[in-house]
Amino acid sequence: MTNSSEDHGARFDEKAASYDDDQESPEYRRSVEAVIASAAPGPGETVLDVGTGTGAIALALAGRAKRVLGRDVSEGMLDRAREKAAAEAIENADFEEGRFREPRVTEPVDVVVSNFAMHHLADEEKREAIETIAGLEPRRFVLGDVMFFGEPDPDEPFFSPEVDDPATVGTLADALTDAGFSLTAVERVHDQVGVLVADRAERDGHSDAERGVESEAVTDPGDPEGETATDTASEGLIVPDEGGAASYEE
Ligand SMILES: C[S@@+](CC[C@H](N)C(=O)[O-])C[C@H]1O[C@@H](n2cnc3c(N)ncnc32)[C@H](O)[C@@H]1O
Repeated sequence: MTNSSEDHGARFDEKAASYDDDQESPEYRRSVEAVIASAAPGPGETVLDVGTGTGAIALALAGRAKRVLGRDVSEGMLDRAREKAAAEAIENADFEEGRFREPRVTEPVDVVVSNFAMHHLADEEKREAIETIAGLEPRRFVLGDVMFFGEPDPDEPFFSPEVDDPATVGTLADALTDAGFSLTAVERVHDQVGVLVADRAERDGHSDAERGVESEAVTDPGDPEGETATDTASEGLIVPDEGGAASYEE
């Protein structure tokens, strides 16, 4: 995987018009649902969605948050997000060029989300992206993405090796904890798709409870198969629905 952000931007510019219609995978849909549910912004909070694409997550959260900021490298995808916001009369969404390691955000953010986008970065770039996100000091970061819970089945790839570079859950968990987050929930959507919820328990010296923010974990207690359990505060894991289609077409 050697593609640059510019390559990804150009590739998604071409896909923008048909992108929403092409998202039929149940794993993608489940990841979208789980990221939205876990983000759980308060009405006075600002949400940043990195790799927002056509705004699937940002637009869904706009009605629950004070403001949503969508950032992406593809102007084509951002244009589509802006069109959807206008069509839905959403006025508190801001879609602008920005990238994981340079999100171009000038205001405080409370919750950062990202869905099916970080796997475009190499692992070292993911670590830098997570450090950049931590530097924004959100209380929560919710990452839904292609990620490996075990050895990926070569006959059942959920990603395209020429453009994608998914990490293991352990690699992501280490990067999150090293950046000062606690991993508070893990949902295994598929053995190559997951949703991680990472919290900063004491932001500015105040806990979520003190600031009146509800913490809404998406998972039931369970065993995260030893991958993330050792150095995280994981509350659990949901096993994937049986029989879901194991493919994903961007
Ligand atoms: C598969 S789409 C996902 C879009 C949206 N989050 C969703 O759930 O439908 C991946 C998006 O990530 C964007 N992207 C790729 N590399 C990026 C980077 N370095 N920074 C920000 N966005 C990036 C692409 O342009 C594309 O819009």
